[in-house]
Amino acid sequence: MRTETGQVTSLADYRPTDFVLERVDLTFELDPTETKVEARLIFHRREEANPNAPLVLDGDELVLSSVLFDQIEIDSERYTATPDSLTIRDLPASEPFEITITTLINPEANTQLMGLYRSNGIYCTQCEAEGFRRITYFPDRPDVLAVYTVNIIADKAANPLLLSNGNFLGGAGYGEGKHFAAWFDPHPKPSYLFALVAGDLGLVEDTFTTVSGREVALKIYVEHGKEPRATYAMDALKRSMTWDEETFGREYDLDIFMIVAVSDFNMGAMENKGLNIFNDKYVLADPETATDADYANIEAIIAHEYFHNWTGNRITCRDWFQLCLKEGLTVYRDHEFSADQRSRAVKRIGEVRHLRSEQFVEDSGPLAHPVRPSQYKEINNFYTTTVYEKGSEVTRMIASILGKDLFKQGMDLYFERHDGDAATVEDFVQCFADVSNRNLSQFSLWYHQAGTPHVTVSCDYDTNAQTFTVKLAQTIAATPGQPDKKPMHIPLSFALLANDGAMIAPASASGGEVSENLLHLTEAAQSFVFHGVPERPVLSLNRSFSAPVILNFTQSSDDLALIARYESDLFSRWQALTDLALPVLCEGVKQVRAAQPVLFNDALKRSLLAIVADDTLEPAFRAQALALPSEADIARELGGDIDPDAIYAARKAIIHDIAVAGLDIFKGLLAQMATDAAYTPDAKAAGQRALKNAALAYVVQAENDPLKAAEAYAKANNMTDLSHSLSILAHHFPGTTETKAALSDFESRFANNALVLDKWFSIQATIPGEDGLVRIKTLMQSPKFNAANPNRVRALIGSFAFANPTGFHRADGASYSVVTEEILAIDKRNPQLAARLLTSMRTWKLLEPQRAGKARAALTTIANANDLSNDVRDIIDRILT
Ligand code: PHE
Ligand code: ZN
Repeated sequence: MRTETGQVTSLADYRPTDFVLERVDLTFELDPTETKVEARLIFHRREEANPNAPLVLDGDELVLSSVLFDQIEIDSERYTATPDSLTIRDLPASEPFEITITTLINPEANTQLMGLYRSNGIYCTQCEAEGFRRITYFPDRPDVLAVYTVNIIADKAANPLLLSNGNFLGGAGYGEGKHFAAWFDPHPKPSYLFALVAGDLGLVEDTFTTVSGREVALKIYVEHGKEPRATYAMDALKRSMTWDEETFGREYDLDIFMIVAVSDFNMGAMENKGLNIFNDKYVLADPETATDADYANIEAIIAHEYFHNWTGNRITCRDWFQLCLKEGLTVYRDHEFSADQRSRAVKRIGEVRHLRSEQFVEDSGPLAHPVRPSQYKEINNFYTTTVYEKGSEVTRMIASILGKDLFKQGMDLYFERHDGDAATVEDFVQCFADVSNRNLSQFSLWYHQAGTPHVTVSCDYDTNAQTFTVKLAQTIAATPGQPDKKPMHIPLSFALLANDGAMIAPASASGGEVSENLLHLTEAAQSFVFHGVPERPVLSLNRSFSAPVILNFTQSSDDLALIARYESDLFSRWQALTDLALPVLCEGVKQVRAAQPVLFNDALKRSLLAIVADDTLEPAFRAQALALPSEADIARELGGDIDPDAIYAARKAIIHDIAVAGLDIFKGLLAQMATDAAYTPDAKAAGQRALKNAALAYVVQAENDPLKAAEAYAKANNMTDLSHSLSILAHHFPGTTETKAALSDFESRFANNALVLDKWFSIQATIPGEDGLVRIKTLMQSPKFNAANPNRVRALIGSFAFANPTGFHRADGASYSVVTEEILAIDKRNPQLAARLLTSMRTWKLLEPQRAGKARAALTTIANANDLSNDVRDIIDRILT
């Protein structure tokens, strides 16, 4: 394990390597505990480089067995090897030379799941960001691109399958009981895209013919017996390939594309060239075991990894500071893909919900960092929602500022200009500046300034002049290392609505750039004046969430109700409902804390129920409307002195009230959306289920009776309905006979399916109330739980810490102690997983003082522990400051 180094890596220190790596030849002799890796590397010194500079290669916990120079053993004075570096001196000034390095590694003992490890008997690799250096000494950085040949030798019976990147060259027997396979990847790549898989797996096969008529073999490998559960992933892959050709003109570039599903994986999936490796959670699905959300995630992640082939692999990152170059852009691409495959508006609402609940929180707390950071202590901790999701939003803003056609031209230019490069964010932005002749330097602040901009809005209508003035002011709070911010270029989509909901087209506008329903806010304070506005309009601002900002805009309930009723942009209708709901919920929290009854006016109820009852609206949208702001949303809105119990109680009371008021509507929906049709995972059917299930939750809460949920559980014919009814039972009627029966039925029905049992773990881990702690402690003892598997840890401990506010933040602080103890134990095995769990406490300072004190004490225990990983040390230092 890489323990704390305290070292800071800075973008300003970037410089190219002294040596160019021309070719890589790897030979693996696989063995569970002693794998031999021979790396033959051909280098030459760069012309500009110092002729005496040594070759310094990265390592991490490596054991060197030999090093050769042009096939001859090197004198021990000429090199220095430590577990984390190999330095070789006295190398040629210009001619190419070959270094052959042999290392011995232990895949079985690799519990951090970086480098070469074993998952359920399968050898697999994970090299992003710095895992390759755990396999061999190497210039392990993304700007070192080379062509790889890989030879794999392994026991044949145990490992009939030997895979690596690129195209299959050939294979044969190899001594007693062994065989070998050779792979060649013609595309130069950085080491983080290297992959190797060996083992015994089942296969689902298909083919895809590209636009230019080439046939590509598609192979998805899963554990034997699970093949039928990989067909949806295959379908999603083919749709992704078609979409990327049609939308971005990107064609696949090898003869084979492989996906391997493994059960132990730190992240969602990895885009290794030609050989994507996936967390099996994002491959396996059938109606009986996967929810609609699982299907949508699989589709999105399959697409995301496939899209990386161009945005990430063909054009990679110069250094890890440029991570958003591949991630933000690829998230944007997968969002667009899903929007095209499903309902764009509903997809957008989901994206914004996620952005606000994760990224906005990150951006306003101790872990805030720019989309393109300029320093890090541990790169693993920068795979964040800021880099991914805010990075995607920044790309989206470029698209809206330029418009569809210019954006397409800019992307084409990017692919043309930088194919084969290790590029930077500046390279990317320059392409859009060049095609549009726009100066994007102010816009680029989005990459460099952390923090979510707040935009304050006020409006003024002048009846005599028939002008409508929109006054905007922007600020960004200080973030770590960035006390002062400059004004940003914020593209705000808008509409002016008349009293009857019709759109008003003003005759002209002044005060700044206004184009195609976009206000370009560029100054700290700016007033836009619309002329020729015949009546007082209602302003709908930031339509479709055109900019990732927080609007401070107090609109009357009447104005919000008008938007909720008439906006043609469905996102804005949902937003108006949210804006009606949040003040009501926050007021409710105050009432609860003052021990007063929770009372609220009818505007919210009326608008919400009108939308829910409107059959002309798609069911998925109505379901989104019914999912009122979450407890975390309310906490964010309150902004401090958080009492999670009061938030829970207020929200529950308000939902109960709405449920009672709308009982007839909800019952009607329950009947109307019920269907005997066989399950299909498409967006339309999923939307109907979402609405039916939302209605069910309201009915059950209005009646305060588990009966209907128990009935729904009994007759569910798919995992969406089954897990939803189970969570209604568990969350609203914990401990009842109905709930106990359903939980134990679920457990025994899926006893052999770990991924499904994760749902069982997480449903129980999120049952509100302070008993949550006892519950998760008991579940951790369950034979079904396995602390070494990241999916299990996230399902149980992660769900508790991230998604059970009343349980995790119980007032006595007991949950903090238990979770921090667990984090310390996990850190010994898997630092990345531990560090991520620890981010659940990043908002501790916003808690009311008593809880904040307990949280600080628990965090201090971590800070005082010895031998923390670099990953956890980095997070704890930032969180505690
Ligand atoms: N690059 C992967 C993705 O976003 C994520 C990942 C990062 C996976 C680091 C593993 C390790 O698609
Ligand atoms: Zn990615």
